[in-house]
Amino acid sequence: MSSNTNNHTASNQTTSRTILVTSALPYANGPIHIGHLVEYIQTDIWVRFQRLYGSTCYYVCADDAHGTPIMLRAQDTGISPEALIEQIAKEHRTDFADFHIGFDNYHTTHSDENRHYANLIYSRLRERGHIVARNIHHAFDPEKQIFLPDRFIRGECPRCGAKDQYGDSCEACGATYSPSDLKNPVSVLSGATPVDKESEHYFVRLSDFSDMLHTWVNGHKRFPAVQPEIANKLEEWFQAGLKDWDISRDAPYFGFEIPDAPGKYFYVWLDAPIGYMASFQDLCTREGLDFDAFWGVDSDVELYHFIGKDIAYFHTLFWPAQLHGAGFRAPSAVFCHGFLTVDGQKMSKSRGTFIKARTYLDYLNPEYLRYYFACKLTNGIEDLDLNQEDFIQRVNADLVGKVVNIASRCAGFITKRFAGQLADKLDVPELYEAFVDQGDTIAGFFNAREFGKAVREIMALADRANQYIDERKPWVLAKEADKEEELQSICTMGINLFRVLMIYLKPVLPVTAKKVEVFLRMSVSHWDDRKTPLLDRPINPFVPLMQRVDKVAVATMVDASREELQPKEIPSAKPKIEPIARMISIEDFARVDLRIARIESAEPVPDADKLLRLVLDIGDSSRGTVFAGIKGAYAPEDLIGRLTVVVANLAPRKMRFGVSEGMVLAAGPGGKDIWLLGVDSGAEPGMRVK
Ligand code: MSP
Ligand code: ZN
Repeated sequence: MSSNTNNHTASNQTTSRTILVTSALPYANGPIHIGHLVEYIQTDIWVRFQRLYGSTCYYVCADDAHGTPIMLRAQDTGISPEALIEQIAKEHRTDFADFHIGFDNYHTTHSDENRHYANLIYSRLRERGHIVARNIHHAFDPEKQIFLPDRFIRGECPRCGAKDQYGDSCEACGATYSPSDLKNPVSVLSGATPVDKESEHYFVRLSDFSDMLHTWVNGHKRFPAVQPEIANKLEEWFQAGLKDWDISRDAPYFGFEIPDAPGKYFYVWLDAPIGYMASFQDLCTREGLDFDAFWGVDSDVELYHFIGKDIAYFHTLFWPAQLHGAGFRAPSAVFCHGFLTVDGQKMSKSRGTFIKARTYLDYLNPEYLRYYFACKLTNGIEDLDLNQEDFIQRVNADLVGKVVNIASRCAGFITKRFAGQLADKLDVPELYEAFVDQGDTIAGFFNAREFGKAVREIMALADRANQYIDERKPWVLAKEADKEEELQSICTMGINLFRVLMIYLKPVLPVTAKKVEVFLRMSVSHWDDRKTPLLDRPINPFVPLMQRVDKVAVATMVDASREELQPKEIPSAKPKIEPIARMISIEDFARVDLRIARIESAEPVPDADKLLRLVLDIGDSSRGTVFAGIKGAYAPEDLIGRLTVVVANLAPRKMRFGVSEGMVLAAGPGGKDIWLLGVDSGAEPGMRVK
């Protein structure tokens, strides 16, 4: 992949940059899945890198809440669209937070700010003569009394005759056409034959922006606004001629009604990208930032949109035209990425590879996926594949086997032999310097969105660090007399090399990087912190930083994602008996560390209907915080002092309200009928339950 796209190399960044970054706004009608996560993880790594490198970087996003599918989905579920989008927004936010996506703001397109900017942009376009009205003919469902988007009409392919094809393209022969070409068309909503109906629509005259768009795409040769593949695509679109863009839809529609046009609504794609501005405006209001300094025509702030290649058309034609026509600045660049496939194929519900973010989180550490995507990401638009074997292998070999291993090979000696104190000099300063120097190349790769290359450089350094330890053999020196000083300086060297690697990996693995900072008793706030080794100072005892990927967990996650295994939610008065889960072996069971715990304190969690925050005494003066969904069954004050049973070795899980470090065992159908497992007197906190 050529790297000329916005390839400001790190070394020529003389002044500090101010950057506003967005990811595409996910539709509020379904859950986040691992395909989406390619984008949010890519953007988040880039943003975290920029901040670590000293730039001021804001990252905003929102839910894309408008449009026919959301309206219909709400109808289907029997709730209002407002209630639906609110519920989905909550899920999206927790999914993103649990994958450590660090938005500065997460808003919604169904907001006052968005209505304000949508109206403003539309009225400016109209004042300047870029809006035209025209009657069009469109398919209409006579039963449902609604105009049908192309995807809501099915029929026989006009080319090959295949049955039951979408209104815009044939999955059998690949033909694309318009819905009126379909033979025997039916409305997906009612089964009725669509009728042709005339209605007045509003259009943006895109051809008015032809020159502007040409200049925008080709204008800054040094930092092109789009990748070469997209520039080629745009050239095709220019050649074909820029057609007027239909921006209105008739009622019923869930969106913003167009001012002075009762019964007409902005098409969802008009106000969706405006959602970037709306989310940023919301942030400005909260934090006192100057909106115009970012969006005004004269702004010198860098503005980047990360998107998937399927929505390039909207972001590289309509969006810059909309902005320009309404007197705002255009984006500095639009960064497209490819699509995720799993084991070489499109994600599929029947194969269990359509994996929801939440299902993933139920089984695996989010940082595994962040690392794996980083390995695979380039600055190009080619698709990337998640191969299950490769995923397990890479994370285990690289992160656990190479990186964490460096620390675990050295830390024990420092703790046991030198009371946790690092030596006052490095064993091989030149090797440390080489690690530091490589930071410029790695920063250049991060900045150019060549994450795969950055990771390869980091792993090459990890190999060198392990090689160094292999050669110096601290475990041999440890047995010899008079080698104390050498041993300490070798282990200090190893720990410092490890620290540099973890600084490089911090944008990818923010949580592990934080744990390392606690372990080394020194926080990292800048890329340049790598230049100062930790010498003659104490570190904490080593704690396991990352577990190996468990093969069984991956297989179970895929199983749980298979469509046929997902019970359809059928509302019923009877408590639902879930099927017995997959068998686990006695060894699996033996790994569950059940302990007696005494509940020291219990308090309700604000904004959570079911949760109590429990602080548990699990013996040996260790304490743990657990969030338990038992508020309906127990008053907090009745719990204090009680003994219960806790899963003590459950990996800590970040919840919206804090970190939960274990799980208390309880049974019952839910609500007020939940019984906490109790324990007879005579038991002491910390005792194992057999
Ligand atoms: N709502 C629009 C975006 C509006 S932006 C003003 C939309 N939403 S989406 O939920 O369908 O997709 C959100 C982002 O996720 C898009 O950039 C899309 O390309 C990306 N991806 C969705 N599925 C994906 C994969 N399987 N692989 C990689 N990215 C994918 O489009
Ligand atoms: Zn066909």
